[in-house]
Amino acid sequence: MKKIFLLLLIIFTMSGCGGEEKTPAEPEKKSVEKAPVETSSDKKILVLYFSRTGEEYNVGTITKGNTEIVAEMIAQKVGGDLFEVKPAKPYPNEYQACTEIAKTELESNARPAFEKNIDNLAQYDTIFIGYPIWWSALPRVMMTFLESNDFSGKKIIPFCTHGGSGLAGTEREIKDACPNSEVLSGLAIVGKTAQNDSAAVEKDVEAWLKTLGL
Ligand SMILES: Cc1cc2nc3c(=O)[nH]c(=O)nc-3n(C[C@H](O)[C@H](O)[C@H](O)COP(=O)(O)O)c2cc1C
Repeated sequence: MKKIFLLLLIIFTMSGCGGEEKTPAEPEKKSVEKAPVETSSDKKILVLYFSRTGEEYNVGTITKGNTEIVAEMIAQKVGGDLFEVKPAKPYPNEYQACTEIAKTELESNARPAFEKNIDNLAQYDTIFIGYPIWWSALPRVMMTFLESNDFSGKKIIPFCTHGGSGLAGTEREIKDACPNSEVLSGLAIVGKTAQNDSAAVEKDVEAWLKTLGL
């Protein structure tokens, strides 16, 4: 599945992005954890995310990242704080150039630096973690961030935006990076939907939050 997706990604990368819609793969069915999330009254909710602007798959050139749109919606609905993970060295605006760098980073299992760390992680016990799917994986800068902080004892709720591959096993990557956290099943939203159809995203997010008891 991963190999098929990578092949498909190379095809859509070569044919450029934007313009007519080309779906590289069927979006994965969203799966959610049924157990309600319990948050104690003195602990707050954090929505932590990485998102990129510029030329992006299937949406042309965007000024607000697909994942950022979903992150803001979640934060608004759960009354959470937002924190954006920014890479110390920004990724290129051009889609293809970005995919090449991301591929090199993944293949070398790089840990690119992030710009600024969060200084008050201790006050949160429930943390949504959002990211775009890059080469069927978590962007490496998110791995750097997860490994640089202590998420022990925290409830982590992943969400991603993607071009067709769904969560692509990223919940497992998060679990590996945060072995002492409870990682719930995540939500996957197609990037083009996030960018262009806020009513559809709102419906999905609300249904998902309801199953989490939030
Ligand atoms: C470097 C790179 C690699 C990508 N790899 C995948 C992929 O493997 N599977 C997929 O479904 N989409 C892939 N995409 C598409 C993005 O996941 C999707 O457009 C996402 O919504 C972008 O979110 P953002 O605007 O928050 O960065 C890739 C995009 C980029 C830039």
